[in-house]
Amino acid sequence: MKKLENITVLKGDGIGPEVVNEAIKVMQACAQRFSLRFTFTEKLMGAVAIDATGSPLPDETLESCKAADAVLLGAIGDPRFDNDPTLKVRPEQGLLALRKGLGLFANIRPLKVFDSLRYLSVLKPEQLEGVDLIIYRELTGGIYFGKRETADDYATDECKYHAYEIERIAKLAFEKAQQRPRKTLCLIDKANVLDTSRLWRKVVQKMAVNYPDVKLDYLFVDNAAMQLILNPAQFDVILTSNMFGDIISDEASILGGSLGLLPSSSAGETARLYEPSHGSYPQATGKNIANPLATILSVEMMFRDFEYDEIADAIMGAVQHVIDNKILTPDLEKENPVGTSDVGDAVCQWILKEV
Ligand code: IPM
Ligand code: MG
Repeated sequence: MKKLENITVLKGDGIGPEVVNEAIKVMQACAQRFSLRFTFTEKLMGAVAIDATGSPLPDETLESCKAADAVLLGAIGDPRFDNDPTLKVRPEQGLLALRKGLGLFANIRPLKVFDSLRYLSVLKPEQLEGVDLIIYRELTGGIYFGKRETADDYATDECKYHAYEIERIAKLAFEKAQQRPRKTLCLIDKANVLDTSRLWRKVVQKMAVNYPDVKLDYLFVDNAAMQLILNPAQFDVILTSNMFGDIISDEASILGGSLGLLPSSSAGETARLYEPSHGSYPQATGKNIANPLATILSVEMMFRDFEYDEIADAIMGAVQHVIDNKILTPDLEKENPVGTSDVGDAVCQWILKEV
């Protein structure tokens, strides 16, 4: 087990605070059940940080994240900033600066489909048979971090990748593929058009000789977007660049019935950050209707990464329990929904009584 004691908490905007509060409750239930201690340090990021300090990522927040064993993030984003292209300061800049500042080069999003929720998917239940995929999205390079130039009537966003940026995330994806039953890695790119994508292919092909047990596939991103809907079960581990991963992961996230179920972790050389894949859902703020499961499952990923498997299993068991017993928010339960905090309470009760 690795040391997991000090957690920096960035609740962020919109529903961020509500879902993070439930995840903290769950961590505290785990601490009680397994005789551990966690220290939570709350810091500002996103629109709340802009309002309080003028900066979306105050230095103090970055320093606290650097010093922590792990960072737990809710969501950032506020409609006040969305539709005015002239604004110079935006909540999203905080998240990008945090990723860069912590060197979080890989964003990992697993898609698990819970059988009893299949009927909620936009796909037919039988199309979800065997769906179990995990996306490795490059997170600190590409068009998100390229040189920008803006004039009155033109703008550019450069997309640049160095081989080392591809190698370090590809290594994680290959290693993950080796641990999975199907041992398949699919590189999603646009190598028929983009030089950066051809570099991804070259680097990944060269690395493949070191992983002879992994089957390597390739798909162009436009085809991949279609294949994810037509036959999502064909995917095992997906590896892709920053921009394509952003798009593909939102598409994948709804296959399981709700965006509110998809957790994520971001990894660097040392830093680790955990956050739900969904956004700040401003319309739901303060209504106690947001689904906390994606954040609770992000905490499950945290325990798994730090090799507290027993605790991660307990959280998974509790989540399966609330799903089986329909103790769910309105996105997943139309007839008798419960509140955000009821889901968190039920997860905690199960961990404290049943494990
Ligand atoms: C995500 C989000 C972010 C991204 C935004 C909020 C900057 O969409 O984490 O997927 O584009 O990376
Ligand atoms: Mg996104």
